Formats: sequence, structure tokens, C-alpha cells
Amino acid sequence: MKGYTKELLLSREDIQKRVRELALEISRDYQGTEPILIGILNGVIFFFADLVRNLTIPIKLDFIRAASYGAGTTSSGTIRLSKDVEIDIRGEHVIIVEDIVDTGLTLSKIKDNLEKRGPESVKICVLIDKRERRETQVNIDYCGFHIEEGFIVGYGLDFNEQYRHLADIFVLREKGPSD
Ligand code: PRP
Repeated sequence: MKGYTKELLLSREDIQKRVRELALEISRDYQGTEPILIGILNGVIFFFADLVRNLTIPIKLDFIRAASYGAGTTSSGTIRLSKDVEIDIRGEHVIIVEDIVDTGLTLSKIKDNLEKRGPESVKICVLIDKRERRETQVNIDYCGFHIEEGFIVGYGLDFNEQYRHLADIFVLREKGPSD
């Protein structure tokens, strides 16, 4: 089995500071409204929990689970939701919350899907915008961090379901012969 090493990319302090800033920005922009924040499971759980608890406006929250990454999600024009939102979003302000945007396919399809349901508005908030593999243009309204490349884990992000529970974010590297 291949070995991997983790290199710290974003400390828990960096993450928490940026999440508070995003929450402040969203609270200001949505003052006087009660948006619905929709988290895309599973990777988003910690970001979502920290973000919503730093908001100063009333909100509702719900979750979507897109069918697993790979077959069926990238080639077809639609995305299969293995868990859909349960709140009616018609006429509401919606903010989709996601841990990472990579190719952009998941978010663009989920946004299209939600827009067909007649919400007042749909915006996107992501913790990490990773541009290396972008395949489709997605407009990110709120972004925590931009990174160019690398496989990252921690704070909800996984590699084969491992590392999600870590409070910091790391770059995962394959061990070389000299490591
Ligand atoms: C990851 C991530 C996004 C998606 C981004 O989810 O949480 O949902 O991939 O990739 P894309 O921009 O290339 O579409 P994944 O399907 O790995 O599920 P997870 O959230 O349970 O880790």
C-alpha cells in the first residue's frame, strides 16, 4: 500500500477566522431577510456548522446529498440527489454551501436544479475554490480560500473517507523513496 504524508495548509485558527469573516459578509448582505442555507453533504458538515453559528441573521437550513462522485454525475446533464432538500424553496433566498469546488460540475448542476424550483435568488458559498481541474464555469459568491492545486484533506474533506475529522486542512502527498 502506498504511503502518504500530510503537510499543513490551513490551520484551524486560519479556518475559523475566515469562516467568521464569511458569516459577517453574508449577515450584512442578507440583513432583513431569512435565507435558506443548503449544505451539500458530506464534506461540508464542519464548515456548515461553523458558518451558520457565526451568522447574526435568522436563517433556515437544509441539506442535499448528491449521488457519489463518478459515474452518472459528470457526463449526464442532470445530477442524482440521494437526499433532497425538505424545505420548500419557492420564493426564498437560497445560499448553497459547499466545502470545495473542483471541476465545478457538482455545484453547477445543483444550482441549475434548485433554480428550476422558483427561488427568489440562489447564491453559492464555498470554503475552498480549487481551480486546477475546473471544467465548467461556476460563479462563486462567497469564497473562503483559493488554491491552485493539490489533494487536500481535513475539516470535512476526505481521502477514501479518511481524514474528515481533522480540525486543520492538509495537503496529502504520496511518500517518495527518500521519505
Ligand atoms: C466533493 C465535494 C464537492 C465535489 C466537488 O464531494 O464535497 O461536493 O466533490 O467536486 P466537483 O467540483 O469536481 O464536482 P464528494 O462527491 O467527494 O462527496 P463528499 O462531500 O461526501 O466528500
